[in-house]
Amino acid sequence: MSDVTAGLPQATNPLQGSLPALQADYAALCARGLALDLTRGKPAADQLALSEPLLSLPGSGIDLDDAGTDVRNYGGGDGLPGLRRIFAPLYGVPVDQFLALGNASLHVMHDVITFALLHGLPDSPQPWAREETLKFICPVPGYDRHHSICQAYGIDMIPVPMQADGPDAAAIAALVASDPAIKGMWLVPTYSNPSGAVVTDDVAQALVSMPTAAPDFRIFWDNAYAIHHLTDVETPSADALALAAAAGNPDRVLMFASTSKVSFAGSGIAFFASSPANIDWLRARRSVQTIGPDKINHLRHALFFRDSDGVRTHMRAHAAILAPKFAAVQRILTARLGALRDAGLVTWTNPQGGYFVSLNVMPGTAARVIALAKQAGVALTPAGATWPLGVDPRDENIRLAPSMPPLADVEEAMEAVALCVQLAAAEVTYRQPSNSR
Ligand SMILES: Cc1ncc(COP(=O)(O)O)c(C=O)c1O
Repeated sequence: MSDVTAGLPQATNPLQGSLPALQADYAALCARGLALDLTRGKPAADQLALSEPLLSLPGSGIDLDDAGTDVRNYGGGDGLPGLRRIFAPLYGVPVDQFLALGNASLHVMHDVITFALLHGLPDSPQPWAREETLKFICPVPGYDRHHSICQAYGIDMIPVPMQADGPDAAAIAALVASDPAIKGMWLVPTYSNPSGAVVTDDVAQALVSMPTAAPDFRIFWDNAYAIHHLTDVETPSADALALAAAAGNPDRVLMFASTSKVSFAGSGIAFFASSPANIDWLRARRSVQTIGPDKINHLRHALFFRDSDGVRTHMRAHAAILAPKFAAVQRILTARLGALRDAGLVTWTNPQGGYFVSLNVMPGTAARVIALAKQAGVALTPAGATWPLGVDPRDENIRLAPSMPPLADVEEAMEAVALCVQLAAAEVTYRQPSNSR
């Protein structure tokens, strides 16, 4: 590992002289016997309670939606129109290009990939599975389950940096221009997992208009957190479908979303939005797979939220629970690691929405930080989880997920994480030749 502190003047290296004190603090931390978990971005129990009335909806005797459809019966493959009218505007998509489907969006993403492998997309020269090599662009740090889908189906992953305004569009344009094996890219455009970055209109414009060697290149626009604002500023997502159509590439964007972190995770509703050609393609594929989605769940969600403003109000209640936890993460990281950040040794993001904070510790120490935290009773997402194949080449990125534990636990866990970051960095600093006295 490179000596990242070597260039620092002695006076600006905040770790000089700190190892014994940090070791003593760490021993005291371990003695406390903590059992805290910051691993997965799940809603907390009090967030789930916000949607409790769903469990008694629609109620016996309420079987018809506002168009007279009997939700107890087969059919309605596009999803209940009343529900689609509530949610489509929240994602900035025309209702006829917006489907309400099953219980989770990852399922739809997985289906689209497997359908593309078996049948190809409308504009594919042949089924993807017949191609010798398949590749996807993966902005990093990114969402591990996107990478798992690629890994499961033998799709090579090309990491590209995720920046504050979105993925490095110039780097992506250079890659896709000449390599027809690159069939797609993952992207969480709003409050990205894990950095919280929001793709700007300029970056979205660049991605939807760049020339691609593959005629059937797709952006898997996973807008999981589009409406999950943490503040009163409701940052809108770039209108990728309209931008793509205007750029002459109407079929480039496949949008996915769900109510997993709006109502119930695992018992919510998945959404899919795209061009008419892609919608027709998915509709045809799904008609072989199912005789219709769970319209009773659709109806219960439509009755509960009533309209788009009902969803907005509900999301503000989520934010009221989540925002103090995210504020605690920032407060504690700043208090404990501010000096390391000022010295250029660690960085972290300050998301205005979504479920995660991305922490970059001193390069070469992320796995050590996570092991130290585990030994002290604090579970963190495994090192490398945000990179394809679980390998972070600089061993520096850690995804923090503060949503689920109660606030007091988040505070305690973050104090512990900050100490582990300091200790791991100090261990490295003390291993440098100038310190091996
Ligand atoms: C970016 C992203 N997409 C999708 C999902 C999963 O969504 P769903 O529950 O709709 O499958 C998550 C869950 O953490 C996520 O972070």
